[in-house]
Amino acid sequence: MKTFRYLFAAATAIILVSFKKPDPLPLYKNKSASIESRVNDLLKRMTLDEKVMQLSQYTLGLNDNENNINDLSKGFDPHAGSLIYFGSDPLFRNAVQKKAVEETRLGIPILFGFDIIHGCKTLYPIPLAVGCSWNTELNREACSNSAKETYLSGINWTFSPMVDVARDPRWGRVAEGYGEDPYTGAQFGASAVRGYQGQSLSAPNNIAACLKHYLAYGLVEGGRDYSFTDVSQQLLQDTYLVSFKAGVKAGASTVMSSFNDISGTPSTINKYLLTDILKTQWGFKGFVVADWDAIAQLMNQGVAKDPEQAGERALNAGLDMDMLSDIYRKYIPDLLKQKKITMATVDEAVRRVLTLKFKLGLFDNPYTPVVAESQRYLQPETKKTANQLAAESMVLLKNKDNILPISGSIKSLAIIGPMVNDSTDLMGSWTGRANAKDVESINSALRGEFSGKLQLNYAHGCDFDGKDDSGFDVAINAAKNSDEVVLFLGEKNSWSGENTSRSTIALPEIQERLVAAIKKTGKPIIIVLINGRPLALKNIEPDADAILEAWQPGTVGATAITGILSGRINPSGKLDITFPLTTGQIPVYYDMHPRARPYLGNYQDIPTEPLYWFGYGLSYTTYNYSDVKLSSTKIKKTEHLIAKVEVDNTGKIDGKEAVLWYIAHPEATISRPRKELKFFEKKLIKKGEKIVYTFDLDPERDLSYPDASGKQILESGDYYLMVGSQKVKFEVTD
Ligand code: GLC
Repeated sequence: MKTFRYLFAAATAIILVSFKKPDPLPLYKNKSASIESRVNDLLKRMTLDEKVMQLSQYTLGLNDNENNINDLSKGFDPHAGSLIYFGSDPLFRNAVQKKAVEETRLGIPILFGFDIIHGCKTLYPIPLAVGCSWNTELNREACSNSAKETYLSGINWTFSPMVDVARDPRWGRVAEGYGEDPYTGAQFGASAVRGYQGQSLSAPNNIAACLKHYLAYGLVEGGRDYSFTDVSQQLLQDTYLVSFKAGVKAGASTVMSSFNDISGTPSTINKYLLTDILKTQWGFKGFVVADWDAIAQLMNQGVAKDPEQAGERALNAGLDMDMLSDIYRKYIPDLLKQKKITMATVDEAVRRVLTLKFKLGLFDNPYTPVVAESQRYLQPETKKTANQLAAESMVLLKNKDNILPISGSIKSLAIIGPMVNDSTDLMGSWTGRANAKDVESINSALRGEFSGKLQLNYAHGCDFDGKDDSGFDVAINAAKNSDEVVLFLGEKNSWSGENTSRSTIALPEIQERLVAAIKKTGKPIIIVLINGRPLALKNIEPDADAILEAWQPGTVGATAITGILSGRINPSGKLDITFPLTTGQIPVYYDMHPRARPYLGNYQDIPTEPLYWFGYGLSYTTYNYSDVKLSSTKIKKTEHLIAKVEVDNTGKIDGKEAVLWYIAHPEATISRPRKELKFFEKKLIKKGEKIVYTFDLDPERDLSYPDASGKQILESGDYYLMVGSQKVKFEVTD
């Protein structure tokens, strides 16, 4: 009987078990639950090892950034929080993601990131050029296109936009940002964030943005990359925090800390910046990722005795994810045991990382849709936007006797220089996943633009640098046998980007000598520059009849160059960075503080003025600015001032004119910049048309300035509004 009872009980148990309700879906896998509740649920389930791995980033694929050591791309751990994906194959990326999602205990997806700085497969111009377009909407569109190519490559996170203000062109990374002005960097950085992230991070073709390099990286001593930066609190507030605050306000998902030491405390362990300002004051809810191996580099910077202390200081400062050093994975458990860090700190960092993964929809849609490569990249609309942005970024710096556009009476043109047949260097630095084979050379674009109209006489002339002038004779002959000469000069793309600081910003001597040699032929000379930084043109500017700054215009930039040369395109760019006369004049930038004796020159041996100021650029048409009209010359601090100027296109062709509005506050409690850009707008003005530009000046937004603590100060007194060549005074009262 007892046996029967046991058998019956066993049978009952088996039946019950087989009809047991399935385990409830863990909350973190419940798509209809809130992100916060899913994160909290997942966090509770995670082991310490699983948490630590979420704070660790490694590489996947062949690391092609020669500046970065610690290549850990030998395989991958599916528990990694993030992988820097040196690839563009969604199938491979999905196979890796499958290991994480389907073969680990909790199935936490990997966040794939990469440096998509100015395009993925379709490169638009370098950001330093883009700032010269004054067209933030076009930049947003370009970044949106770039996000789609990036997303379809399997990458969900770009380490872009770089919004460092840079005023020392010896620093090669000046190419990656939007120039010397905080407001310009803020506007373009925010437009890039909106372009990358779209309306919803979880929607297809949108990717997470990353504001970098936080902070003041552009101030490295002598323009020497990775070096010390001595920054006053006032300068941090006035100049370097502005573009990051705008990017956070635009909703940037992540921030990358910078390598540099900020007055003694490297950004990597700078709690004031990473936590007090970014997370506490600004309410930033995303996460901070270190720059490459930066936690390990703290020992080089003399602020950590060993990797463990480096990890302790970084995590306690608010640095959430460790890029490549592997220190968090190795040392967080010990640091917890020693009570040098708390689990609350670890959890807060993990929470931030998981939150972004949920926002991106990676838990619910972890795999990249696989689209045929022919549909994924280099689409006509994407190339059209990149070409337009290239055209609007180019700056006409000189045009003596309107030699440009090339006249219909010209029958032959000598096309000379190291850039004529080049493709690679047109791409600029940080070329994403792009290929030079997709880039049209200037020679090809010239032949397309002028076929049947001009005889083109090509000569190489010389290389980018070196001493070999054996090509000069052929170039001189080509010039002698042509009506005019176009010299395509500039820099290799490897002279810009990370770890590319240069001791001089003049063109290499061989290129200067080529200009002088061609000048002797007596032919008119047009110089087209392809470069990633302002150049000191003192030695060649006098010999040029025209100078077009084309920057590094990207995949489809060559036809923008030839469109401007032919007159098919009317140049509309204005500089977002000042061109010093010589290297010795650095730093020189438009919003410097006034000198005690402004009437005396700066140097004995050179003129005081730079060659071209921020905001400078010529057009093929002419614009006449009406007198500025102010709604009042006296306003209270709480009242807006409406300023209007009517711009008349008095020329013979349509043009796009960017109007830049500046303010000056020459009687403040502390010295203020001589002038500060506060608004800009670019509009198409057809020939003979007049268009009104309006600046709605809000004193709190446009006239106040931060004190060293970041508190905004708005003072009463006299101010000036500047637009075009006008400067009008108005008063602010309490
Ligand atoms: C590099 C750069 C940074 C880049 C990162 C990942 O060293 O400083 O701009 O995003 O590492 O490649």
